[in-house]
Amino acid sequence: MSPADAGGDVVGLPARRAAYRAVRRVHSTDAWSTRAVDSALRGGDLDARDRSFAANLAYQTLRWEGTLDWALARVLTRPLDQVQPELVDILRLGAWQLLRGGVPDRAAVGTAVDLARAELGPQATGFANGVLRGLARTRDALPWPDPATDEGLGLALGYAPWIVAEARAVHGDRTRAVLEAGNEPPGLTLRASPPGTRDDLVAELRAAGLDAAPTRHAADGVRVPGADPAALPAVAEGRATPQDEASMLVVEALTAALAGPGGGPLDGWRVLDAAAAPGGKTTHLAGLGAEVVAADVRPGRTRLVAEAAQRLHLADRVETVTADMTAPPFGPASFDAVLLDAPCTGLGVVRRRPELRWRRDPGDPARLGALQAQLLGALAPLVRPGGVLLYSACTWTRAETTAVVERFLAAEGDRFAAEPARTGAAGRPAPAGPGTLLDPAADTTDGFYLSPLRRT
Ligand SMILES: C[S@@+](CC[C@H](N)C(=O)[O-])C[C@H]1O[C@@H](n2cnc3c(N)ncnc32)[C@H](O)[C@@H]1O
Repeated sequence: MSPADAGGDVVGLPARRAAYRAVRRVHSTDAWSTRAVDSALRGGDLDARDRSFAANLAYQTLRWEGTLDWALARVLTRPLDQVQPELVDILRLGAWQLLRGGVPDRAAVGTAVDLARAELGPQATGFANGVLRGLARTRDALPWPDPATDEGLGLALGYAPWIVAEARAVHGDRTRAVLEAGNEPPGLTLRASPPGTRDDLVAELRAAGLDAAPTRHAADGVRVPGADPAALPAVAEGRATPQDEASMLVVEALTAALAGPGGGPLDGWRVLDAAAAPGGKTTHLAGLGAEVVAADVRPGRTRLVAEAAQRLHLADRVETVTADMTAPPFGPASFDAVLLDAPCTGLGVVRRRPELRWRRDPGDPARLGALQAQLLGALAPLVRPGGVLLYSACTWTRAETTAVVERFLAAEGDRFAAEPARTGAAGRPAPAGPGTLLDPAADTTDGFYLSPLRRT
């Protein structure tokens, strides 16, 4: 987007208002950004360019929130948390346009003032005008901390300092690349269903004028950057489902661990997907022939799995169960494989959910790591001898990855052994511990950790 396109002369108040409403909804209701943006754009009369401007402005403002707040705090005369939250969001939208959006100062400030008037009333306009003009004036002289520090790198790349510290501990000299890749919009990836129909799907999408190509690593994945899944007949008709390539590779690794190198049909295998919602991996496994018991702790989320199975014509191979898997209601050795795709901080999926990085706090990796270890320990007896327990998480912090598996092996080492994950050319061994890491910089996938554990 050129600055002229981004400026107020072309894209005006309605688009900024849609972006504001999306950002506000994320902050006031803890909504996911994708849902908040979709709902802010739905039903409006914005044209394609306005919609794309509004979506980008909302996502970027959420992504760079910490940096924007730091810069705003340099020109505010009172702490940001003493400013009305609605006004803070308007200031953030204006600050992103001034600092990173390439929007001319006059347009960025003027449209923020218009937005303040339209949303909050005339009393808010003077303050918004003063703060943003102050930021425009001092922008080039802000005292940014040294990027060698966690705070400085966090401000430069849009992450909280504690996330930078966690990343340095795991990714070492690849930290900057991994964090930068987490700022790139990933574009849509689909999984062709049933397996083996990818070529037909690519041809269909290309015939519809879309830029579709097979994924680099996963067997059934298709990249369709820029496409809207809600507008694709293949998705509506259950021949494709949106899913990141890393998620597909988790299932491929489980398939390879069960059925041997190269995977193979899973007909007759009984698999428990112990944290299944919304059902991406459950439907993948069922599509490959497995009989899947799909469990989740929340009834509303279990319903999502049942709906996904229905949509993909796989309901006869998926049984849904609502239960807490720290106390699973299944007999010992009752499954050939158990997949624990664990609840986690989600730092590997920040390119899809930019707001996550500001929702988590420094205690979360240890807190979630303890839950993950508890789940893994409770699920272990359900795996039959010779079967596989696969642990995966869409994050990379040490406490939620290698530390969980090491703790598990310390308790269960006489009954389970860690095996290498078969993910083809994707991924690399996790530093200082068992398992494999996939990441957006090297693999162009979401960031995932996975570790197959064989019951001996
Ligand atoms: C990362 S998501 C799973 C994504 C899913 N595997 C997929 O590929 O579509 C983690 C899930 O774990 C569920 N969960 C959290 N705590 C749980 C528990 N104690 N027992 C079972 N499920 C739990 C959450 O409700 C959430 O749906």
